[in-house]
Amino acid sequence: MSHIVAPSVLSADFGNLQRDIEMINASDADWFHVDIMDGMFVPNMSFGFPVMKVLQKHAKKPLDVHLMIVDPDRYTQAFRDTGAATLTVHFEACNHLHRSIQNIKNAGMNAGVAINPHTSIQLLEDIIADVDLVCVMSVNPGFGGQKFIENTFHKVIALKKLIEDKKSSAKIEIDGGVDMNNYKKLVACGADVLVAGNTVFGSTNPKETISQLKQI
Ligand code: DX5
Ligand code: ZN
Repeated sequence: MSHIVAPSVLSADFGNLQRDIEMINASDADWFHVDIMDGMFVPNMSFGFPVMKVLQKHAKKPLDVHLMIVDPDRYTQAFRDTGAATLTVHFEACNHLHRSIQNIKNAGMNAGVAINPHTSIQLLEDIIADVDLVCVMSVNPGFGGQKFIENTFHKVIALKKLIEDKKSSAKIEIDGGVDMNNYKKLVACGADVLVAGNTVFGSTNPKETISQLKQI
């Protein structure tokens, strides 16, 4: 199966949100990546359930929701009710990650865990068999349009090996600074899902840029 491309709604034009959602619907994109920030776990706030409901109504592709919030268990059911297909929580935000992952699965969603740039792949050893996705942050979370951290390539290779060793079916997602210069190498290292915000919405032809990100 070819890799998945997930444009990040964070970089959309919120004055023309329905237009940008329909652009993604009509494009070669596979998922919508949806960033939820609380101003506590990360030094920025994004948006919440009113925008989730707009996406639920208009998006025709799965919603891949990335929670950059403290104590994410409080909202598992609310994200299910507003259409999340995959719900990803941060390793660094969960005291009881195994329970959080089970709660997400029991609510009927795919469960993901995200790791910050400083968090080692080895820390996932005892959870990797339980998750559907690992979101490897390739920037410090909180903002779109940041520079890709090169160490990510090594992490993807190490994560791919861990997934194979543990016979996990987890997908590897790369989030932050994905661009036309690094996406092919990321896929070659084992990435399954590419998130792209600024690269898509900052381009003159976002739909064409999405098509290019699908090509290897
Ligand atoms: C960063 C978010 C990303 C962001 C990516 O905290 O998790 O999903 O939207 O944006 P770009 O692709 O512009 O780095
Ligand atoms: Zn994200």
